Amino acid sequence: MIFSSVWATAAAIKNFTADDDQNAETEGFKAGAMDFIRKPFVPDIMLQRVGRILELHRLQTNLAREVKRQTKYAQERQERMERLSRETVLALAKAVEAKDKYTNGHSERVAYYAHLIAERAGMSESDQNDIYFIGLLHDIGKIGVPDTVINKTTRLTDEEFAMIKQHPIIGAKILKDITEMPGIEKGARWHHERYDGKGYPDGISGEEIPVFSRIICVADAYDAMTSTRSYRDILSQQKVREELVKGKGTQFDPEFADIMISLIDEDKDYKMRG
Ligand SMILES: [Fe+2]
Repeated sequence: MIFSSVWATAAAIKNFTADDDQNAETEGFKAGAMDFIRKPFVPDIMLQRVGRILELHRLQTNLAREVKRQTKYAQERQERMERLSRETVLALAKAVEAKDKYTNGHSERVAYYAHLIAERAGMSESDQNDIYFIGLLHDIGKIGVPDTVINKTTRLTDEEFAMIKQHPIIGAKILKDITEMPGIEKGARWHHERYDGKGYPDGISGEEIPVFSRIICVADAYDAMTSTRSYRDILSQQKVREELVKGKGTQFDPEFADIMISLIDEDKDYKMRG
C-alpha cells in the first residue's frame, strides 16, 4: 500500500492506493484526497479521472487568484472612497472658511481638539473618527449667513446677531441627509447649546445635548479664545484656562471642560493655538 506515503503530498492527485478498505478511502478523503482510484487500473478511466482532477485543480487555482484580485480591487476602491469622503468634507469646511477671513483653519482646529478630547474621554476609535468629521462641518451653516454679517468688525445689531444664530439650524438642514453619520447633523445643530440650557438654537441642557455636540462646544470655545478675531487678539493661556474653569457646568459639560483644562496644563509652551 502506498497510501500513507502519498497521503502527505499536496499534489492535485492526492493518493494512489491498493487498499480497498472503505475506512482507508474515508480517511483519505478526510485528509484532503481529491480522488480514490482502485486497482486494477483501467487506463482510459484512469486518464479521464486524472484529467478531471487536473482541470478541477486548474479551476481552483484560477478561482483563488480571481478572489485575491477582486479583494485587492475592493480594498483599493474602499480606500479611495474613504479618501474622497475625507477630502470632500475638508473642501466643504474650507468653503465655509472662505467666507470668514478671521477664522482661517478654525474647523480643522476644532476637529483636532474635539478628537483629542474624545480620545482622552476613552471614546472608541470609530467615535473619535466621527467627531473629527463633525468638527470639520460644525459651522457649515455659516454658508447661509451674509458675508457682511460674518465679517463685521463692529458690534452686531440684534437683527444681525439673530442671523448668526441661524447658522446651527442652516447647518443641520444642509447635513441632515448624511445618514451614514447621524452625529454630523446633531453636531452642527447643537454646538452652541450650553450645559445650563442658556444656549441656542433650542435651549436644551445637560445630557439632553448630544455628547458630540458637548465636545464640539468646548473645542469651539477653546479655538475661539486661542485665535485672532476681528474684534480682539489671542487670549493668554492663563485667561483661556480661567474661562474654561468658569464655564464648567454652566457653558460646558464639566467632564469635557476638565479634559480641555488638562490638555492646556500639558501644553507648556502654548502651542495649541490658531
Ligand atoms: Fe458655530
